[in-house]
Amino acid sequence: MKKILLLGSGELGKELVISAKRLGCEVIACDKYSNAPAMQVADISVVLDMLDGKKLLNLVNDVKPDFIVPEIESIRTEELFNIENKGITVVPSARAVNLTMNRDAIRDRANELGIKTAKYEYAHNINELDKAVQIIGLPCIVKPVMSSSGKGQTLLTEKKEISYAWENATKNMRGDRIKVIVEEYINFESEITLLTVRQSNRDTIFCPPIGHKQEGGDYVESWQPENMDQDLLMKAKDISEKITKDLGGNGLFGIEFFITKNDIIFSELSPRPHDTGMVTLYTQNLSEFDLHIRAILSYPINEISILREGYSTVIKADGFADRGFDYKFSGIEKALELENVDIRLFGKPKAWNERRMGVILSKNRKIGQKARKLISIHKKNNY
Ligand SMILES: Nc1ncnc2c1ncn2[C@@H]1O[C@H](COP(=O)(O)OP(=O)(O)OP(=O)(O)O)[C@@H](O)[C@H]1O
Ligand SMILES: [Mg+2]
Repeated sequence: MKKILLLGSGELGKELVISAKRLGCEVIACDKYSNAPAMQVADISVVLDMLDGKKLLNLVNDVKPDFIVPEIESIRTEELFNIENKGITVVPSARAVNLTMNRDAIRDRANELGIKTAKYEYAHNINELDKAVQIIGLPCIVKPVMSSSGKGQTLLTEKKEISYAWENATKNMRGDRIKVIVEEYINFESEITLLTVRQSNRDTIFCPPIGHKQEGGDYVESWQPENMDQDLLMKAKDISEKITKDLGGNGLFGIEFFITKNDIIFSELSPRPHDTGMVTLYTQNLSEFDLHIRAILSYPINEISILREGYSTVIKADGFADRGFDYKFSGIEKALELENVDIRLFGKPKAWNERRMGVILSKNRKIGQKARKLISIHKKNNY
């Protein structure tokens, strides 16, 4: 029985554990708080600050896993190189996890590989930000180099917003490296995630493209397959193969692209299942989680196919001022009455404003949105 140490136990980790358990793995799920989603389905759970390298190393020495599978970015990734050197597989590789933890490292690497991205500059203070904005031009997007789900991002349309953008980025960044990236604003027609599976001794394979929409830099809906120009899709596959080969290791990667009228522009990538890919729980013969586990275990993947078209939309806690409250859902039964609607509730112990609490899976946008309108989140003590 293979032993997996999962670092990060959110909703994506939860589905990954389910897939791993189905193939007989033992899973130890770790996060900084107890009763996190993936812990609820794992064999053992451990509460730990994964940014603390020493604690991480002690845990690994204790558990002696076959595989370390990171599910989040805030991990002391430098330590993963030492762990990898001891012969424990870091999925997909310590290099991949390290380079993708921050926006700057992966962006620079893409650039070195000759992959087209939005024009970008870096800034370490507000004066440098001012200069960077002058070089890139308006509108542009300012992002902390370490953050996710759109946190700390500002779409800058006027010079006078620069100090706000600096504050927003530095207040909402993760880690302790004060650095922002200023990106040219791409007026794209659509954006996609190309789920790419790297396997040992087998070809790299791809899921049909996933279209998605983000609000404030955070995913709100996705669908699969996205109908797109086949030449651009080929180009996206070439880029994905190139960059994942460079990062190395086995596993599924989520690669984000902007699609303009006649080109495709690399945006960023995750060396693990992607939130927009939750739609594959509904659409594919093997979900992105099943694929990740198969690639990790070096099991064959005969084919990836779409069994039915699908759509996903998130259920967020909205309109609450306080942090960390007990909650309950209403409207789940009504939503499930709709044609072929399926729902995943993540089981997070507490809700707070904007926190993602579940996802609706459906045949199409119309039904998914109808289901979304029926579901609400309430504070428990209001009842
Ligand atoms: N240069 C850009 N031009 C236009 N839109 C952009 C640009 N950069 C980001 N966006 C928009 O913001 C979204 C989030 O940006 P990005 O993926 O870089 O951030 P993130 O915080 O890592 O998000 P996530 O972790 O949810 O993927 C993108 O999917 C896109 O909709
Ligand atoms: Mg993104």
